[in-house]
Amino acid sequence: MKSLQHIFEKNRVWAEKVEAEQPGFFEQLSKQQNPEYLWIGCADSRVPANEIIDLPPGEVFVHRNIANVVIHTDLNCLSVIQYAVEVLKVKHIIVCGHYGCGGVAASMDNKEHGLIDNWLRHIQDVYRLYAAELDAITDLAARKDRLCELNVIEQVANVCSTTMVRKAWRKGQPLHVHGWIYHLEDGLLNDLGVTATGMD
Ligand code: CO
Repeated sequence: MKSLQHIFEKNRVWAEKVEAEQPGFFEQLSKQQNPEYLWIGCADSRVPANEIIDLPPGEVFVHRNIANVVIHTDLNCLSVIQYAVEVLKVKHIIVCGHYGCGGVAASMDNKEHGLIDNWLRHIQDVYRLYAAELDAITDLAARKDRLCELNVIEQVANVCSTTMVRKAWRKGQPLHVHGWIYHLEDGLLNDLGVTATGMD
C-alpha cells in the first residue's frame, strides 16, 4: 500500500474536478507551458504562489526559497530566471515577500541556527544597508515588518542586475520586475511600488 494514501486520494479528486470543469485541460497543458509570470517567493507553507493569486497550473513559473532571496551566485535561482526570461519569455517577474517571515526574523535575533545562518547573512546585508532607518524603529515587530519590505526591494534590485534581465532589456524585450508583500493575517497582497521596466 502506498504511504500518504490520503494525499493521493486528494490528488485524484482534484484532477477529476479540474478535468470535469474543463475537459482536455491536462492534455492541452501537457503539450506546452506559456506562463506570463515568474514568481520568486518564500518557501513558507502559508504563501503558496498559485493559490494566493488564484491562478491555475500553467500560469505561473515558480521559484521559492527561505525569505525570497535572489543571490548572484545561486545557480538554482539564476537558472530559473534564465529559463523564465529567455525561453518562456515571461512578461513579469514578481518578487513576493511576506510579513511575519521566519527567515527575516531569524536574521535579526542574534541566535545560532546552523547552516541557514549562511543564507540569512544576505538578509543581514540588507539590514546593514538600511541600518539607520531600521534602528530608528523602536517597535521590534514594526522593524521586522520593515525589513521584510526592504528585503523584497533589495531582491528586486538583484533580479534587475542579473545578466539575463539586463540582456532582455537591452534587446527591448518587454519585462517588468515587481516587488510585492503578502499579509498572512488577511491573505492580501500589497504592491511595494518598486516596479522596474528597464535600465534607467
Ligand atoms: Co518567509
